[in-house]
Amino acid sequence: MDILLERKSVRKYTDEDVKKEDLDYILHAAMSAPTARNTRCCFFIVIKDKETHKKIASLHRAAQMILQAPLAILVVGDQNAAFERYLPQDCAAATQNILLAATARGYGSVWCGVYSNEERSKALEKLFNLPENIKAFSLVVIGKSADNNPPKNAWKPEKIKYEVWK
Ligand SMILES: Cc1cc2nc3c(=O)[nH]c(=O)nc-3n(C[C@H](O)[C@H](O)[C@H](O)COP(=O)(O)O)c2cc1C
Repeated sequence: MDILLERKSVRKYTDEDVKKEDLDYILHAAMSAPTARNTRCCFFIVIKDKETHKKIASLHRAAQMILQAPLAILVVGDQNAAFERYLPQDCAAATQNILLAATARGYGSVWCGVYSNEERSKALEKLFNLPENIKAFSLVVIGKSADNNPPKNAWKPEKIKYEVWK
């Protein structure tokens, strides 16, 4: 499977759990993402608790799929450790690696936006008792896919410019 082209947002899951070795692989991939000046400023909160899933669903209206998923990962970043203002880019790279690693191991996943929705990020920072310097960036919901739709075809040659815009 070509994981780069096969990845898609999955919002329906079976009851199957995410295996420990697959979760470790996914987290290893997340930690292997590039970070500006190699600060490795991202942290990952693995959330399996159903009561916490319910609390997240109550404060993130576009993350209702978490209610039927076995697991989610909250990607957070240490603002004190990040280089200049690169924290969002660092966390975004880690988030994308999570999606691709999940695809590679046969799981469906979806990136639920947290940054830069201030209300949402503040609510999650409170829920997870994050210190002042640790900022919530994204929530990735993961589970075995129950969605048979093919990935969207994103190939649009007209989006490519060679050498200059025109
Ligand atoms: C920054 C960002 C925030 C997103 N937030 C949400 C979200 O809150 N809920 C959701 O269901 N999907 C969310 N998505 C997934 C997009 O809707 C999805 O990537 C897009 O529709 C393209 O579909 P695909 O991922 O299947 O290619 C988000 C994606 C990104 C990159």
